[in-house]
Amino acid sequence: MEERLKELKEEALQLVEKAANLKELNGIRVSYLGKKGPITEVLKGMGKLSPEERPKMGALANEVRDTIAKAIENKQAVLEEEEVQRKLAAEKIDVTLPGRPVKVGNAHPLIRIIEEIEDLFIGMGYTVAEGPEVETDYYNFEALNLPKGHPARDMQDSFYITEDILMRTHTSPMQARVMEKNKGKGPVKIIVPGKVYRRDNDDATHSHQFTQIEGLVVDENIRLSDLKGTLEVFAKKIFGEDREIRLRPSFFPFTEPSVEMDISCKICGGDGCSVCKGTGWIEILGAGMVHPNVLEMSGYDPKKYTGFAFGMGPERIAMLKYGIDDIRHFYTNDIRFLKQFSVHE
Ligand code: FA5
Repeated sequence: MEERLKELKEEALQLVEKAANLKELNGIRVSYLGKKGPITEVLKGMGKLSPEERPKMGALANEVRDTIAKAIENKQAVLEEEEVQRKLAAEKIDVTLPGRPVKVGNAHPLIRIIEEIEDLFIGMGYTVAEGPEVETDYYNFEALNLPKGHPARDMQDSFYITEDILMRTHTSPMQARVMEKNKGKGPVKIIVPGKVYRRDNDDATHSHQFTQIEGLVVDENIRLSDLKGTLEVFAKKIFGEDREIRLRPSFFPFTEPSVEMDISCKICGGDGCSVCKGTGWIEILGAGMVHPNVLEMSGYDPKKYTGFAFGMGPERIAMLKYGIDDIRHFYTNDIRFLKQFSVHE
């Protein structure tokens, strides 16, 4: 028995020494030190020994077990250290490699033009107001001098939700909302950017959902010349001194007199193309003096107060400023288009 125990010890120590990895080492531990291992097997024969020999053999068995366990423990530490070193070598970071470039986003060209226009008007003393996109028929039409059945309602084909609620067709409803809130007192000087919706067929210059920026100035002694001066400053600041502007007489039920402002087409230089529909000009805004009926309906005394209003399409303005040939580029999220407006590259 003594011989067998010594043999087992030698055998186990040799295997431990040769173990190449932690898995193998664990296998050795289980087979030699486990309950069903050869040492336990040998000790089962203890009963056949004389009482004097038994404690001696017990002590030897314990010594064999301890030696093997100690050897496994030492080997485990060595293998673990080797594993760490291997990992460190494999995962070494090459600090000399060039870094991966980080893609930086940029503001959408439409947001940029809206912010540019906002900044311009804020610089002229305007404040920015916002209103609901889901609007009542009253504010979208009636309060703007467009009673039910008025033929001019056809100028703006609408998405109705119920008979009295619709997606706003322009930002003009905010004229009535703001004046009503002021209860007929004091000056108003606001711009209102926001989304609007119309049942227009999409083409190069029309979209069924687009943005507008409304402007409204109400005070005593506001004149058409104030409107003209304001629009001229706006156009020159946004498009540059060299672009041509024209004001045409027009009609809106909520302004009297009414005008529309055109800018010479940048795409064709005024010769005529698909963007300007062959005219050399593109309409960018409607404007006029606030109709006395509109002032009155919203609580302002038209004998005391006058005002001007305008409503422009920032998409068309961006198209003219940057030479974009189709309004649909703003909504289709083509990264090649959007990247052209990056300030980072
Ligand atoms: C109006 O919407 C008036 N509310 C503007 C106004 C405000 C007039 C205050 C007087 C006083 P109009 O329908 O013309 O007007 O639209 C104004 C601008 O929105 C147009 O000049 C154009 O630049 C833009 N626009 C109109 N329809 C579309 C469309 N389907 N897609 C893109 N832009 C459009």
